[in-house]
Amino acid sequence: MNRKYRKTIIAANWKMNKTAAETRDFVERLREALPRNRRCGIVLCVPYVDIAIAGKLLRESRISLGAQNLHWEDHGPYTGEVSAAMLADLDVKYVIIGHSERRSLFCESDLVVNKKVRAALDAGLRPILCVGEDLDQRQLGVAPELIAYQIKVALAGVSAEEMRRVVIAYEPIWAIGTGVSATPEQAGEVCAAIRDILHKLYDARVARSTTIQYGGSMNEKNAAALLEQEDVDGGLIGTASLDPEKLLAIIQAASQDEPEEC
Ligand code: 13P
Repeated sequence: MNRKYRKTIIAANWKMNKTAAETRDFVERLREALPRNRRCGIVLCVPYVDIAIAGKLLRESRISLGAQNLHWEDHGPYTGEVSAAMLADLDVKYVIIGHSERRSLFCESDLVVNKKVRAALDAGLRPILCVGEDLDQRQLGVAPELIAYQIKVALAGVSAEEMRRVVIAYEPIWAIGTGVSATPEQAGEVCAAIRDILHKLYDARVARSTTIQYGGSMNEKNAAALLEQEDVDGGLIGTASLDPEKLLAIIQAASQDEPEEC
């Protein structure tokens, strides 16, 4: 992380977990134990049905509310879908877009991801754009090209000014939910490559100031080492974020001093 140029953000992705009662219990425990000296942004991306209760409990807490998906249209005949305007109306600030589970299980293409990024920005939300390769792609050596393509398509039509509101999460698919995280060096290398892509697509300011998170089996044990990487500006955390103690430990790790060379 490098707090001089960009914000460090720890975001919880609860995926399809926690009822309203469990959400209340979690938020109360998190708020009680939140360290005063924390030096990172915190976002809870909860299931749609928990957004209203989480929003109420997070009021005046300096913890931001996030969603895990949206539909790109404002309203209309899209059974089961939720629009960006509906999320914004509930004080949602961040929204995860293009998670690999949505890409693979719900057939979301890069073009759909782009429409969702546009819809989020138009509604005043902050997209957390997920990109990353699977194991075959890594072993074939095509991960850099794949990630560059995912970013280029997802950000088509997004201005440098709008990039102030975009967070990118590098989530290698082989590390998600497996308990096997990327090494700090692997995570740092790809996050730095993503910064280079932003430089090519935009300019030095966008490259330097965009928050780029790592996600994939980040937990209370490996967070400090991953966050020591200059280009890793936080985490998007699944499994470990379901336990308030573990999430708090990761927040602590993100609140430490930066390594000397930063
Ligand atoms: P895990 O932390 O469970 O590997 O999940 C990561 C993730 O998919 C966050 O979006």
